[in-house]
Amino acid sequence: MTPSKRIHIITFGCQMNEHDSQRIFQLLYPAYEPTDNPADADLILLNTCSIREKAENKVYSMAGRFRKLKEQKKDLILGIGGCVAQQEGERLLQKLPYVDLVFGPQTLYSLPSLLQEAEKGHRVCRTELRQDFHIPTLTTPIPNAHPFQRFITIMQGCDNFCSYCVVPYVRGREISRPMEDILAEVKEAVRQGVKEITLLGQNVNSYGKKEGRANFAQLLRAVADCGVERLRFMTSHPKDLTEELMRCFVEIPCLCEHLHLPVQSGSTRILKAMNRRYTREEYIGKVHRLRELCPEISLTTDLIVGFPSETEEDFQETLSLLQEVQYEQLFVFNYSPRPFTTAARLPHQLPLELKTARLTQIVEMQHEISRKRHERLLGKTVEVLVDGVSSKDISEMAGRTRGNHVVNFKTADDLTGQTINITITEAFCHSLRGELQIKG
Ligand code: 5AD
Ligand code: SF4
Repeated sequence: MTPSKRIHIITFGCQMNEHDSQRIFQLLYPAYEPTDNPADADLILLNTCSIREKAENKVYSMAGRFRKLKEQKKDLILGIGGCVAQQEGERLLQKLPYVDLVFGPQTLYSLPSLLQEAEKGHRVCRTELRQDFHIPTLTTPIPNAHPFQRFITIMQGCDNFCSYCVVPYVRGREISRPMEDILAEVKEAVRQGVKEITLLGQNVNSYGKKEGRANFAQLLRAVADCGVERLRFMTSHPKDLTEELMRCFVEIPCLCEHLHLPVQSGSTRILKAMNRRYTREEYIGKVHRLRELCPEISLTTDLIVGFPSETEEDFQETLSLLQEVQYEQLFVFNYSPRPFTTAARLPHQLPLELKTARLTQIVEMQHEISRKRHERLLGKTVEVLVDGVSSKDISEMAGRTRGNHVVNFKTADDLTGQTINITITEAFCHSLRGELQIKG
């Protein structure tokens, strides 16, 4: 048997990309085995993100770092995939003459044949987006699978065209996978001992709408029936958050009480310019209803500051929304003009200093809110699924609550992958600390 070659992937961006990288490993295994060391690799792939300009720039500096390695190792294949590859296509081959292969989020499934071409010395670019694309079901083993957590894609692409967002242009139209394919993957994961499944999509709440199949709430129930211990999903669009879906948080025991619900802005005027298709009041109304049904739910969000024409008054509305909703955590970004998008062509683009000042103000305000939200858990005993040794302190272990809070605790034993009870003793703005409860 010929020995396997080695593949190293560097992943930028969101969980969709993390998951795509996992699929590439799976698709190329056993011909290529994963390696953590790029110097050992026969194939290096950058799975790229173009959501903001900063993310895109990282790709060029990272690709440049591998140029030397390629000069030393003539057979090394260097490929660029993901959203920047989709956005730039052939231009990437022109800009980066040492790159052998360019492929997009859909064409990654053709990698085995694209690699054959690249191995023959051809420079290859395949980035077409197809309307009739189907996310294939892969049955080969995942070579470096996480033993107890798994991401499963339920849909791909996005039809929402928020005016700032490049995703619909680089990931194509929204396509939902058939429920049978998803359930087969869920059952296999459960059989392998996976305890926590996260269903992934750019806009999971509109699952099946276009195809006229089962809706997302029905899919959640069917996945829960497969016997997984913890179920999560992301990302949700507020306009598609229905009463039926909210009820799932109460009616489906394995569904974790956490919802990431990107609001983007607290100003109805800006939301309209963003083409988000909900008002501030509608968003807050949904949050109140959700908390009425499921008081313990933890909410997180994404925000963009400095969208074109955002006034001080609009910004104050965002701050007051944060005070009103009280999120556990948030992710805030400076608005970044992206290719193809309508917002990039709007007048009144704001200066970087103003965006950064607003971003800093939000981060500072949220620290206080997060700490207060976390303090509500002091003295409570919560269920924690242990991820492994804490990244902050190797004498501690870390895990996550059902509400997705990070909890650090001391223990003499390796409890990785176990679900345990912890009593919370300290609350910080990004994490909690607690004491392990010994089972009686
Ligand atoms: N500029 C800044 N942030 C953006 N996001 C998406 N597009 C942009 C952009 N052009 C943010 C949104 C989204 C998150 C994944 O990235 O908040 O929810
Ligand atoms: Fe982008 Fe809006 Fe689609 Fe999310 S819903 S991926 S922000 S276009």
